[in-house]
Amino acid sequence: MTGKATAISCANIAFIKYWGRRDHALRLPLNSSISMNLDAATTTTTVAFDPALAADSLTILDADTTEKAARRVFEHLDRVRDLAEITTRARVVSRNSFPMGAGIASSASAFAALTAAACAAAGLSLDERALTILARLGSGSACRSIPAGFVEWHAGESSATSFAEQIAPPEHWDLRDLIAIVQTQHKEVESSKGHERADPSPFAAARVAAAERGLPVVRRAILQRDFEALGEETEQEAIRMHAVAMTSQPSVLYWSPETVRIMHAVRAWRAEGLPAYFTIDAGANVHVLCLGADTDEIAGRLRALDGVQDVLANRPGPATRLIDAHLF
Ligand code: DP6
Repeated sequence: MTGKATAISCANIAFIKYWGRRDHALRLPLNSSISMNLDAATTTTTVAFDPALAADSLTILDADTTEKAARRVFEHLDRVRDLAEITTRARVVSRNSFPMGAGIASSASAFAALTAAACAAAGLSLDERALTILARLGSGSACRSIPAGFVEWHAGESSATSFAEQIAPPEHWDLRDLIAIVQTQHKEVESSKGHERADPSPFAAARVAAAERGLPVVRRAILQRDFEALGEETEQEAIRMHAVAMTSQPSVLYWSPETVRIMHAVRAWRAEGLPAYFTIDAGANVHVLCLGADTDEIAGRLRALDGVQDVLANRPGPATRLIDAHLF
């Protein structure tokens, strides 16, 4: 069979994080998580299954393609081939709209787009839930990039019950995520390793319990558009996740001096009456949450801080979708 398809997916920012797994091979998380898709941080991926190919190939445009990244992509193609009952090799070409490996969850948008494009190219038509489960096997956070807008990933107890679904559509709330970029090179410890190291932290179990308490708080805050409730819980959860990373073995310290500078600045602005909260993924960049009306003011203040190279402004993003504009 010969089939080609292209998909585009948003990265996502988690308010309640996925950090630590109960099953590493199946990427079953220790706790459920909630995120928002980021409309300006996308990955576009074209997959073509072609009987003339002797092996799979991966090209990431405008970036280096490591052997490790390629292996992970080819393993994911195997999952799709198993489902479609084919053995045909594929060519994969991908492009990101943002710097890779900088804690902007490039694996989330990458594996969501790869899953949708590969399934379509293989002639599989899975429903949304099945797509989230398949994307999760490639990268946990990728399952949250399949549905649109505000999304919850139910931890579940098995592969079949660990899936993501929408809490609210993108137009529900004009929330913004301004990513202050302070580092664009590959981070030291990728999140896949971070999850494995989380277990020995003396704070791991306490964070999971706190995340479980925070989950309904964040869900309700989104549904009621309660920015203060969302921001308070999100900021606490980011600090909890990083406390686990810092106390893992070996310890992982993602923050740079610029990261901490922004954290202090955001709190100072809030004390002045400008509503903003921060969260941080597995990298040094800081995500600053604010409301639509305050975007220009906060983006301007972030750009003026020492060490901030750029600010990437995001609105709640759409679902993963197929497009006609193939990359080859
Ligand atoms: C800090 O989804 O990248 O962004 O399943 O190993 O691919 P793998 O991990 P990944 O972890 C994301 C961690 C995080 C928090 C989050 O997005 O929930």
